[in-house]
Amino acid sequence: MRDVLISPSILSADFAKLGEEIRAIDAAGADMIHIDVMDGHFVPNLTFGPPVIEKLRPHSDKPFDVHLMIAPVDPFIDDFAKAGADILTVHPEAGPHIHRTLQAIRAAGMKPGVAINPGTPADVVDPIIDDVDLILVMSVNPGFGGQSFIDSQLRKIEAFRKKIDESGRKIILEVDGGLNSETAPRAIDAGVTAIVAGSAVFKGGPSSYAGNIAALRGEM
Ligand code: DX5
Ligand code: ZN
Repeated sequence: MRDVLISPSILSADFAKLGEEIRAIDAAGADMIHIDVMDGHFVPNLTFGPPVIEKLRPHSDKPFDVHLMIAPVDPFIDDFAKAGADILTVHPEAGPHIHRTLQAIRAAGMKPGVAINPGTPADVVDPIIDDVDLILVMSVNPGFGGQSFIDSQLRKIEAFRKKIDESGRKIILEVDGGLNSETAPRAIDAGVTAIVAGSAVFKGGPSSYAGNIAALRGEM
């Protein structure tokens, strides 16, 4: 069994039954719940915000791994903390003061994460590596589920693995986009410790979730 955290993205869940869907992936072995927040401005799609997350919170004790694809971020940090986010991950392109944003996330009681788009270089994290608990490598351009894994991001994952090891800090290295039973092992070999997957987890409906999650861990 591979020692990797699986964080199913509820972007591929049935939005009419989100509470049930979260209970089902929790029972099926998810380690975290990945929640994609989109504003139709930072990315060309819309999802939901803190009021929905707050209503989902009682449905699972697993960490809420919240990925913000919104700009600006700072006015909403306290709302996400109150809604029950455990990890709050932001893109450096979302505002001019990423360091301040990461400090504000920690001050609000959450773990700060930074998300790196396919076209953004790994070195962006160098000045802030001591301020993050999670690095999210986007292996698709953010906005939609069901896209294909961009192979060139494997080299970036390797670069982050090295940076994290050198930092001596305990930082989750997570990958998001196009992960399935074929691409997940390659990302794990490159050094990730957490995998986000939407379509690969939710395909086939609730009776398939446990098998789908096990397949991402390389157990089947
Ligand atoms: C994309 C989101 C992802 C998405 C992944 O913008 O950040 O979390 O849900 O979906 P799949 O696993 O289907 O590529
Ligand atoms: Zn995401």
